[in-house]
Amino acid sequence: EGDPREARFMARIDAEERIEPNDFMPEGYRKTLVRQIAQHAHSEIIGMLPEGNWITRAPSLRRKAALLAKVQDEGGHGLYLYCAAETLGKSREEMMDELVDGRAKYSSIFNYPTLTWADIGMIGWLVDGAAIMNQIPLCRCSFGPYARAMIRICKEESFHQRQGYEQIMTLCAGTPEQKELAQDSLNRWWWPSIMMFGPSDGDSVHSAKSMAWKIKRFTNDELRQKFIDATVPQAHRIGLEIPDPDLKFNEETGHWEIGEIDWEEFKRVLAGGGPCNADRVAARKAAQENGAWVRDAALAYAQKRAARESE
Ligand code: 3HC
Repeated sequence: EGDPREARFMARIDAEERIEPNDFMPEGYRKTLVRQIAQHAHSEIIGMLPEGNWITRAPSLRRKAALLAKVQDEGGHGLYLYCAAETLGKSREEMMDELVDGRAKYSSIFNYPTLTWADIGMIGWLVDGAAIMNQIPLCRCSFGPYARAMIRICKEESFHQRQGYEQIMTLCAGTPEQKELAQDSLNRWWWPSIMMFGPSDGDSVHSAKSMAWKIKRFTNDELRQKFIDATVPQAHRIGLEIPDPDLKFNEETGHWEIGEIDWEEFKRVLAGGGPCNADRVAARKAAQENGAWVRDAALAYAQKRAARESE
């Protein structure tokens, strides 16, 4: 007969109770949360790199200030999420080492290059737009620290998405060259943004369990569809064309239907074969090594101060 605590745990989940770090939880629940939260945190930290590439080249002080604020927000989101993962017994050092050793996953989307300024607006509009679709339900995740981190993060994500879409609107209302810059960017970021939601439900190894444990509230395909239905009209409103010849609106279901997703590309990027995987991990490794002295100094200072206070 199974452990009675497991039955009590599932009763709590079914009653929509929040599970806190010191509560009983099945090992599988802990493991999948450490996996997902650590990867989410890595995604936020790596996500600073494509955007950071344009901070010194923003076209105006206003755009530069908004981009700086967004990149700083992503860094903060990463730190919240590392703290949430630490409440489950995973150490920060272990997570950092896994990332720089190339053993950790992070969102596939950040392995694409930011080639023009339009990509910065596109990341705000599409990537943060997709992140919001995925993160709003996570505010109701059964694990307390993750859900609470999401509530804080989602407030900042809406600013990220708005300022991104406003940038693209501005380009589309500008010269033909500026509009072409926005269309070129959409052509390069549309399909990778669709892939952010993960494999289709039939190939999702974790969804069933994550849904039963109320970590995941919607399946990958449900959230992907919500994102597509919200984003296609936004593109059309500013005169941009979605780079998908099979895109069509289904009057019956009220959904936009897309063509085939290139799952070979998705698998290639996840296996480290995306355009920027090596650069991203190398940049992170360099930051980790170059910043070691700061961490050591902060630790030594904290230990000295703690020793003084305990005299
Ligand atoms: N990139 C990288 N790996 C992905 C992925 C993606 N886009 N989609 C799925 N995967 C991986 C999964 O991690 C899993 O591999 P693993 O067992 O080694 O962890 C495998 O593919 C199978 O996928 P599943 O659907 O079974 O996995 P999940 O149930 O974990 O669902 C997910 C995938 C929807 C991404 C889920 O993990 C999740 O919701 N994660 C938290 C949210 C998140 O990471 N959002 C994206 C990045 S954050 C961001 O964009 C920052 C913004 O501010 C810019």
